[in-house]
Amino acid sequence: MKERPIVSEQEMQRQREFMELVKAMGERPRRYHIVSMGCQMNERDSESIAGMLNAMGMEQEAVREQADLILYNTCCVRENAENKALGNVIWLKELKKDKPDLMICVGGCMTQEKGMAEMMKKRYPFIDLIYGTHNLYKLPEYIYRALSQRQPVIEVMDIDGEVVEGMPEARKNRFNAFVNIMYGCDNFCTYCIVPYVRGRERSRTPEAVLEECARLRDEGAKEIMLLGQNVNSYRGGGAEFAELLRRVNDLGISRIRFMTSHPKDLSDELIAAFGELEHLMPQLHLPVQAGSNEVLRRMNRSYTREHYLELVKKLRRVCPEIGLTSDIIVGFPGETLEQFEETMSLVEEVRFDAAYTFIYSPRKGTRAATYPDDTPYEVKSERIQRLIDRQQAIALEVLEQQVGKAERVLVEAVSTRDAASVGGKTPRGHMVNFAGPASLIGKFVDVEITSAGRNTLRGRRITEE
Ligand code: SAH
Ligand code: SF4
Ligand code: F3S
Repeated sequence: MKERPIVSEQEMQRQREFMELVKAMGERPRRYHIVSMGCQMNERDSESIAGMLNAMGMEQEAVREQADLILYNTCCVRENAENKALGNVIWLKELKKDKPDLMICVGGCMTQEKGMAEMMKKRYPFIDLIYGTHNLYKLPEYIYRALSQRQPVIEVMDIDGEVVEGMPEARKNRFNAFVNIMYGCDNFCTYCIVPYVRGRERSRTPEAVLEECARLRDEGAKEIMLLGQNVNSYRGGGAEFAELLRRVNDLGISRIRFMTSHPKDLSDELIAAFGELEHLMPQLHLPVQAGSNEVLRRMNRSYTREHYLELVKKLRRVCPEIGLTSDIIVGFPGETLEQFEETMSLVEEVRFDAAYTFIYSPRKGTRAATYPDDTPYEVKSERIQRLIDRQQAIALEVLEQQVGKAERVLVEAVSTRDAASVGGKTPRGHMVNFAGPASLIGKFVDVEITSAGRNTLRGRRITEE
């Protein structure tokens, strides 16, 4: 992977000037609402978007209907993600009838898809701004143009993004933060649209990453999640990912996690890090996608089932407590019953803490979309249900094994089901709910695990740090 040119300071200065211009406008939106769809990359981008809108003198509005600028940060990894985004946009048309000044912006992975922006322009002329993924940093300029020209702005850049540094940001909270270390993906798994909409792999420099992490630490961050589509192929300023991780560990932030890792690039050095680095949490998301070598080959995953199982063994040797999670695709074109059974047996062997399962969804422009697929959808649905049932039973057994342990939890939020409880994660990444006040959010609390539920643990508070 190459290090890419950084968008020039001069260009970033231009964008800051547009932010000031928008801020000075009399007739402009005052309250914005961002809908972030898809993965953590988009969530992190939404924090930059919020930062830019704040700098334009706007304020975040929690209720979508009350905002006068609504921005959709879209995903297109599966067809249902795309349908959800388009469905939402159509609903906005109605809203705009009552509120003609409402500004509607749509960006992210879906609008970066080939032909999508043109289609949207024709079918949804009420959208004020459509931009892609590579030109996110130009949002201030586009918003200024849309407001001053009073006509739609459609700007999707075909060329790959450079690395952008120095965008404003409005972080969701102070105690756990996402830090991008690389962008894009070069793997071209045959089912996946991400390389087409996020462009070629490019890394930030270790200095930029370390500077951001140190700043977050100084602002009170207790947990950092390093982000990239394939963090294992990070290569910035000659440093590989394991080395970057060691340097982030030296900053002394309490907890470090990272995602996503590709099994083909998980080096022995990185595996060793799980036994060595004080702040690296015993948790790894290592998507296997399928258990059959033939399916893996046709997915272009570049590893075998045996290699994956070997990695799991090595990881558990170094760190017996490590919690492994995975993504799995069911019903890849041509998947036979026997091949699906190999996924079932792999799940049995590995015993994932959790697995995100998806029915294969054809994406235009990807190789697999041209593969013959003769398995009826109902058969795929039955297969995925079997997989989900078995995986949930395994996950419950894993959670039950945690009962009786004392765990340090970083409290994240008030529990959604019970306002007198709060919830947070153990080092292994299990969510624990326990009775406690909202004032514990952002703090470490020692908790005894008292019972296991379907996806979460229940606990009792022992101490507070
Ligand atoms: N870069 C990450 C994640 C990318 S998308 C990785 O390689 O793991 C997240 C997950 O969506 C993938 O792991 C895959 O399981 C799933 N996915 C991607 N494309 C898909 C498709 N066309 N149909 C169904 N699932 C898909
Ligand atoms: Fe998609 Fe594969 Fe890249 Fe992940 S590694 S983003 S699944 S192409
Ligand atoms: Fe979706 Fe884009 Fe992430 S397609 S999964 S939001 S990289």
